[in-house]
Amino acid sequence: MDKLVIEGGKKLKGEVRVSGSKNSTLPILAATLLTDDKCVIRNVPKLRDTLTMIKLLRSLGKTVDYNNNTAVISGAANSSSADYKLVSTMRGSFCVMGPLLAKFRTAKVSLPGGCVIGIRPVDLHIKGFQALGAGIEVEGGYVIAKAKQLKGDLIYLGGMFGPSVLATDNVMMAASLATGETIIESAACEPEVEELTEFLIKMGAKIEGKGTPRLVIHGVKKLHGAEYDIGPDRIEAGTFVLLAAATGSTLTLRNVNYSQLLVLMDRLEQCGVKFKKGKDSLTVTGPKKLKPVSVTTYPYPGFPTDLQAQFMALMSITPGISIITDKVFPDRFMHIAELNRMGANIRRDNGAAIVEGVRNLFGAPVMASDLRASAALVLAGLVAKGKTEIHRIYHLERGYENIDEKLKKLGAKIYREKE
Ligand code: UD1
Repeated sequence: MDKLVIEGGKKLKGEVRVSGSKNSTLPILAATLLTDDKCVIRNVPKLRDTLTMIKLLRSLGKTVDYNNNTAVISGAANSSSADYKLVSTMRGSFCVMGPLLAKFRTAKVSLPGGCVIGIRPVDLHIKGFQALGAGIEVEGGYVIAKAKQLKGDLIYLGGMFGPSVLATDNVMMAASLATGETIIESAACEPEVEELTEFLIKMGAKIEGKGTPRLVIHGVKKLHGAEYDIGPDRIEAGTFVLLAAATGSTLTLRNVNYSQLLVLMDRLEQCGVKFKKGKDSLTVTGPKKLKPVSVTTYPYPGFPTDLQAQFMALMSITPGISIITDKVFPDRFMHIAELNRMGANIRRDNGAAIVEGVRNLFGAPVMASDLRASAALVLAGLVAKGKTEIHRIYHLERGYENIDEKLKKLGAKIYREKE
């Protein structure tokens, strides 16, 4: 396995193209199970997670050709059972459950398993499937759903920590082939759910309320093939924006949807970051001296939990105190220990992190604990004095396409070495 080595302290400069959204791609690939027709999905990022989803589709009987960021999916699924080996490595794969249940009236999908960012239950998914008339059993680590017929209903999908992205995806996909009308109240409004809704509509689904907390789905008998271009990854875009801010550099991002980054840009403006919007580009300039800002993560359009770790890394080198709270995954703080190994001064106080900005971080060997925590360590490594070695970079490869190559082109001293 490779480790990533970064020699910090270099300014970055130039342009970077943001890849297609990982979290839009995963449910859209899963949605192709709903039809036997051919689907063409473009701008699919080449990531460990998207490759896992492609493997999962193949294991369910689909034919998938994947070249040059385009996935051509055809043929009929012939199995309703998603294996532990594939589902356990990636929670996103649980969203095959809704399409399988809709197509076969039965589905057996492995529970996604533990995750370092906190307990991640699937009760909302189950509640939604039950409301549509499915009987659910949890047995031997699998969720097994069976229904004679799926029937639309009024479903409230808000949980203890707000709406759920993948539960909304799963229930919407199942409901699109149910009989009658399904109303999902407290649906997740993340742009990735909106993209899935757009794709389902292209497949012939009848859905109102795209991008809102109230989705009305009029079930149809059959869905057909469709083509779709995946939109830019707002989390990758946000990560590059934060890298520019942290290194005091000017970077231009191409293929970016500014309207999905409003809360991040609002907070960064308060930190002193300057930016200029283009049609589908964004130029960001980090200031000489950053100002501290506190953030709390919330469901969209609130501050994204998937940028919390990277923002914390930025605040760790910002003079003054900031408080970072995660209301979506209240235990998502594994990165504190690793940032502190590099000289940061962060302490956890119940559901919040109190960050006291330090003058410098120092390179050190660190361990990536999850996808976004790894991105925070890359940011820290780029600003640190000396050499940082990031181990377990497979986490990073789950969600950032060619990150080391992209950073190299921007002037970063970053390379891979064998462990
Ligand atoms: C998705 C994203 C992930 C992002 C998260 C929140 C994908 C593949 N992943 O994950 O990157 O961090 O949204 O924006 O799209 N919950 C329950 N019961 C459930 C389901 C969730 O209580 O049945 C809780 C979770 O523990 C969490 C909150 O709801 O506290 C939000 O989680 P959810 O939106 O479901 O996250 P995912 O869809 O798994």
